[in-house]
Amino acid sequence: MLGWLLAPVTKEGGGGGGFWLPESASSVSGETDWMFTFIFIPTAIAFLGIVATTVYFMIKYRRRSEGQRTSPIEGNTRVELAWTVIPGIFFFLFFLFGFQGWMKINAPPSEAIDVRVGAKKWSWEFTYPKDGIESGELVVPIGQSVKLTMSSEDVIHSFFIPAFRIKRDVLPNRYTVLWFTGEKKGTFDIYCTEYCGDGHSKMVSRVKVVSAAEYKKWVDSGGGLGDLPPAEFGKKLFAIKGCNQCHSVTKERMGLTGPPFGGAYGKMEQLTDGTTVKIDDNYIRESIMKPNKQVVKGYQPVMPTFAGKLKSRQINALIDYIKSLK
Ligand code: CUA
Repeated sequence: MLGWLLAPVTKEGGGGGGFWLPESASSVSGETDWMFTFIFIPTAIAFLGIVATTVYFMIKYRRRSEGQRTSPIEGNTRVELAWTVIPGIFFFLFFLFGFQGWMKINAPPSEAIDVRVGAKKWSWEFTYPKDGIESGELVVPIGQSVKLTMSSEDVIHSFFIPAFRIKRDVLPNRYTVLWFTGEKKGTFDIYCTEYCGDGHSKMVSRVKVVSAAEYKKWVDSGGGLGDLPPAEFGKKLFAIKGCNQCHSVTKERMGLTGPPFGGAYGKMEQLTDGTTVKIDDNYIRESIMKPNKQVVKGYQPVMPTFAGKLKSRQINALIDYIKSLK
């Protein structure tokens, strides 16, 4: 019974998660789970003890007749010392181990791989400055520490990898840092855990922990985007840059924030200012750079600009991809 409850916090049981906690897969997740259990078990025992004592006293010292009065209790030094000193020791240990863990997660090792994390409504983007890679997914080698320097382009988001037990707010105008070492190969979920608008629940990504050889291959291929044909490259960018959070690639809007792109290329479109425009390369390019200048009728001017965030080659690839959507 106890083994099953504690499964995720023991070395052997660190597999696919247990009753309490999700899978544990990073260098800090084991300690975090241990700390959780170390705080939880004493507090649970104290809680049950207090409730049991209260119930016992309620029954034992209940008033048995109308005229009965209990005599006042003057105090008991031994009991009072015990309930002060014992919790005091526990609180000190919680602080001591908690502080150690906190210091550890705030000190990225110097050999860590640098990755920039960009958050915006509603996607994550990972940039590897040393290798010139941009990716919508985080790919890291197993056993190697990774330092994430995070910032937001708009509102407050929060970066969370449950399997790694790391989470930190991602703010506009200020960098925040997280680090981890992936200790298990596999793919793990990344969530946004700060409500950031309509698409918050879809602001998800993944982290892939791969072998050193696979990582090298991924880096050498430019993050898997190396020499793709333009429309294919555009399709990847469409997901990486988060276009897909607001634009469907079919003819249906699918309840999204922006106009659908299926069959849109070459069409005449009504704008909010009453004019009509042809959806061509120029219109798409301008809509990426100055999104709120020519807004399609029935939509809000809410798209962020991508000026300075996309290279010419990337814009052309996106146009080719949108062109290819039937
Ligand atoms: Cu970003 Cu919620």
